Amino acid sequence: MNFQQIFGASPETEASAPGRVNLLGEHTDYNDGFVLPTAIPQRTTVQLGVSKDGQHHFYSVELDERVSISEGHHTPSGFASYIFGCVRLLEREGYTVPSINLHVTSSVPIGSGLSSSAALEVATLRGLRSLLNIDIDDVRIAQLAQQAEIQYSGVQCGIMDQMASSLADTEHLLFLDTRSLARQVIPFPSGAEVVVIDSGVPRTLAGSGYNQRRAECEEAAHLLRVKALRDITNPQAAEDLPESIRRRARHVITEDNRVLEALQGVSAERFGELMNASHASLRDDYEVSVPALDTLVGMLQETPGVFGARLTGAGFGGACVALVAAGKGEAISRDVMERYMRSGYPGRILVPEVS
Ligand code: GLA
Repeated sequence: MNFQQIFGASPETEASAPGRVNLLGEHTDYNDGFVLPTAIPQRTTVQLGVSKDGQHHFYSVELDERVSISEGHHTPSGFASYIFGCVRLLEREGYTVPSINLHVTSSVPIGSGLSSSAALEVATLRGLRSLLNIDIDDVRIAQLAQQAEIQYSGVQCGIMDQMASSLADTEHLLFLDTRSLARQVIPFPSGAEVVVIDSGVPRTLAGSGYNQRRAECEEAAHLLRVKALRDITNPQAAEDLPESIRRRARHVITEDNRVLEALQGVSAERFGELMNASHASLRDDYEVSVPALDTLVGMLQETPGVFGARLTGAGFGGACVALVAAGKGEAISRDVMERYMRSGYPGRILVPEVS
């Protein structure tokens, strides 16, 4: 149902934002480290208007769910919590936000590690920026979106997803230093394109496992007497840490080094090797992979034309990303998908967009 059918009026404005896929630099952002995401073609679009009855009304097309919130109402759950979080954060910034009608539709898959929530937050803040005609830039939007995520979903996330959704495009990689927010738009390795396949296994334990990893990294940084693990460049430094956190720190340190190497402009072959090494590190040291992701990554890695593959996002389920020879993405993803489905998992090709 469209905005008119739901709210009985036309929208006053519209905005959208993409999901993202991260090629290198996983679980580094909350360690002040480096990341290398790109935007995916799938987007979230919001349409907004001022509501006349003093209540917020949010409608999701994909969930066919309508949520109404009156003044003093407790925080909603589900998709509405992200929108409500964005409204609240703008109010805390000193802006007066009227009651709104907001209609959301999205092609970003939910629960696949492709930042559907960041896309919703960034689209919502862009929509509010336009509706209220306020002057706030794309970096500030990403920062507010991250706060909405932390405060309203309970995941102590870093800033990669919101920065990628707010600033990346589908034609480039966005290198980001998550401490200084310095960034650089760089080309894909020459002769390569991206494939993204959903493992079909929803992310379980993502919230609790994620927050636990973050706490372990903070403990490691504390024991190593640095502000954050980003301040360590030699993986050897991790070797004296207690067993439980040694491997966590090793992953973060080596992963930061992999991003910095890729930033130098390496060949597609070398970039692929870095992705393979990243997956092994996420599986063995960071322990955020699951059997379905290892199966899918293994099938991708052994396919001719694939430079490298790894799980992407927080892990615990979700999607895998591969760097493949330019022009071969569709054929490779169809071939891998056929084999993957035979192993009993309900996967789905997300990039390139195939019918
Ligand atoms: C989630 C978080 C990000 C980042 C990744 C892992 O997507 O929202 O901040 O930590 O996991 O790299």
